[in-house]
Amino acid sequence: MNTFEALESNVRSYCRSFPDVFVRAKGSVMYAQSGKAYLDFFAGAGALNYGHNNEFIKRRLIDYLESDQLSHALDMYTLAKDTFLQTLSDKILKPRGLEYKVQFCGPTGTNAVEAALKLARKVKGRTGIFAFIGAFHGMSLGSLAATSSLYHREAGGVPLHDVTFMPYPAGFIDGLDTIGYMEAILTDDHAGIAKPAAIILETIQAEGGLNVASAEWLRQLRELCDRHDILLICDEIQVGCGRAGAFFSFERAGIVPDLVVLSKSISGYGLPMSLLLLKPQLDIWEPAEHNGTFRGNQLAFVGATAALEFREQTGLELAAAHKAQFVEQFLREQILPIDPRLTIRGIGLIWGIDVSACEDEHLSKTIASRCYELGLIVERAGRRDAVVKLMPALTIPMEELAQGCAILKQAVTECCAPAGVLQPELV
Ligand SMILES: Cc1ncc(COP(=O)(O)O)c(C=O)c1O
Repeated sequence: MNTFEALESNVRSYCRSFPDVFVRAKGSVMYAQSGKAYLDFFAGAGALNYGHNNEFIKRRLIDYLESDQLSHALDMYTLAKDTFLQTLSDKILKPRGLEYKVQFCGPTGTNAVEAALKLARKVKGRTGIFAFIGAFHGMSLGSLAATSSLYHREAGGVPLHDVTFMPYPAGFIDGLDTIGYMEAILTDDHAGIAKPAAIILETIQAEGGLNVASAEWLRQLRELCDRHDILLICDEIQVGCGRAGAFFSFERAGIVPDLVVLSKSISGYGLPMSLLLLKPQLDIWEPAEHNGTFRGNQLAFVGATAALEFREQTGLELAAAHKAQFVEQFLREQILPIDPRLTIRGIGLIWGIDVSACEDEHLSKTIASRCYELGLIVERAGRRDAVVKLMPALTIPMEELAQGCAILKQAVTECCAPAGVLQPELV
């Protein structure tokens, strides 16, 4: 039994799929104690969009540490926070015409979701929230109430209420008029469901299995919220920060949510940080109403500022768009022909291969395990974890992207094709 099995709680999860002890990481490669190198197509569950130990960001962090500026300051004014706020405003918000105020929340994504839900309820004076079937918003009780996975909900240990789940336009029942359904509920005085304070959504359900809402549907949702005086909360924790193409995943629909939650890659370096963007008229908080010791990690401010500069200086969005094209084409031309039951879904640099139509309920696990043996880290998502998820760093060099894709192809080919009928040109 290793140290972890002996001393760490049974709740540990990713280490079960990737059981090496990791000692070093650079860019998109992680090195195990054994000396084996792994290509990383998981990117810290979306927290490492700029790769491991990004050199540009690392320099800033080292300089900051050596300068003896503050490492912890509660939510006091610091130079690091000032610089981050100015940079976020100048490089992200102003160019998009977005007039959000920024609330720093506790260090994890779920804390920003809690803040958004609390504030929406406070502003509208209603307790209900609509979330979507397939949604993932975090593990603390408020966020868990808006998370649809029954496995996670049951672990909550208390009734989770004041959230009603609506059908998402993808990954649930094909062809359902989900906007029409919500409209009917909101206008029917016998619907049995009260008008909510807010609707919270991911424009792409990541943990839910790479379900992509169309731009048109997002616009209709925005209109529905406006018609019924409901706030729209966009959870950008996993698919924001350039993961889906533009900095915010909702940009492709041209909509402006009332509240936006960001975390994971916002700090640029895998440092804990989360924030809530809120329209100024919604800022009705009294001081310290949503409090926390670790709101505004100073190092994370420095990393986040550097990351926004790095994006701009390296033309990251354009470079990532080329890689996104490569991945989509690879999946269509190299993966889909392996087995007619496979489907693919995604956008930007977040894609999934859905194997749920194959009879083998363990297939996605077998594929991910084979990838790992071959030196590639990929995770799974969705119902019964049947979607193999590709989420490389936006900075991954093309050769490594192609190399990882080749490993994936080998693994899918071996695992999908019955023994003895492997086609030589596919392996
Ligand atoms: C869309 C979304 N929201 C919220 C969260 C929760 O973030 P955290 O795990 O940092 O609390 C996650 C985490 O994966 C997520 O993907």
